Amino acid sequence: MTKKNTTATLMEMKLRGEKISQLTCYDYTTACLVDKAGINTVLVGDSLGMTMQGYDTTLPVTLDEMIIYGRSVVRGCKNAFVIMDMPFLSYQASAEQALMSAGRLIKETGANAVKLEGGASVTAQIKAITDAGIPVCAHIGMTPQSVNAFGGFKVQGKGEDNARRVLEDALAVQNAGAFMVVLECVPPKLAALITKKVKMITIGIGAGSGCDGQVLVYQDMLGMTDGGTPKFVKRFIEAGELITQAFAEYDREVKSGAFPTEEQTYAKSDCDVEFLSRLDKEY
Ligand code: KIV
Repeated sequence: MTKKNTTATLMEMKLRGEKISQLTCYDYTTACLVDKAGINTVLVGDSLGMTMQGYDTTLPVTLDEMIIYGRSVVRGCKNAFVIMDMPFLSYQASAEQALMSAGRLIKETGANAVKLEGGASVTAQIKAITDAGIPVCAHIGMTPQSVNAFGGFKVQGKGEDNARRVLEDALAVQNAGAFMVVLECVPPKLAALITKKVKMITIGIGAGSGCDGQVLVYQDMLGMTDGGTPKFVKRFIEAGELITQAFAEYDREVKSGAFPTEEQTYAKSDCDVEFLSRLDKEY
């Protein structure tokens, strides 16, 4: 029988050298499927700004919006450990702001942990949240909320100074209390070194296979997204194509009258024909 994933069971997996799976999720139906598949942790990512809301970046997403999506995901996850992303400007201002936002995410969704972006610059926030008993997943390397400062979605940690900075960020968030860290778009050997150096769980996205686990945005790995797929994404199925075909078939059958047939009709509880003919005359 599958057991509920917790910080303790996830840490045991790391210690046993077992890889940890993570997917993003934003709604109840998908959460049920992800949970049934045995995925260890689910991230209600602020990437929902792009995948669910159609923005170009994650920056417009609000705390209230995260809570609405998060609640639905939590209701679908019996075993997966649910992590809520902290959206842009819900934690950067101060440790107090971070604690209040993290508290709302946990209280109002029932999730198990929060995630925030940044390294050494957000250690006061991580400490305040973990001191309140809320597990924190940090996120370093390419942090999408800083896309304007980076000048685009680019690999971080290239060159000696940058690589040292990413490692120091990892150590800083660990010292502040983070139990997990997402390494996004970090050179693979650097990600493997960080994984060796830290006690916390490392989850890679575009960071090679040397991390303790992997995360992908579910629409990317299901092949539901059009346009450029990032190099680190594997499309496990072309679900976008299959879904579009089904929608087009439905459209054709509705228009031709092929749908619905008797099979999809409550024929047994149909009205008496004589009664209907009286109704027809009455009105
Ligand atoms: O918001 C998100 O989905 C993320 C993952 C890509 C790590 O931060």
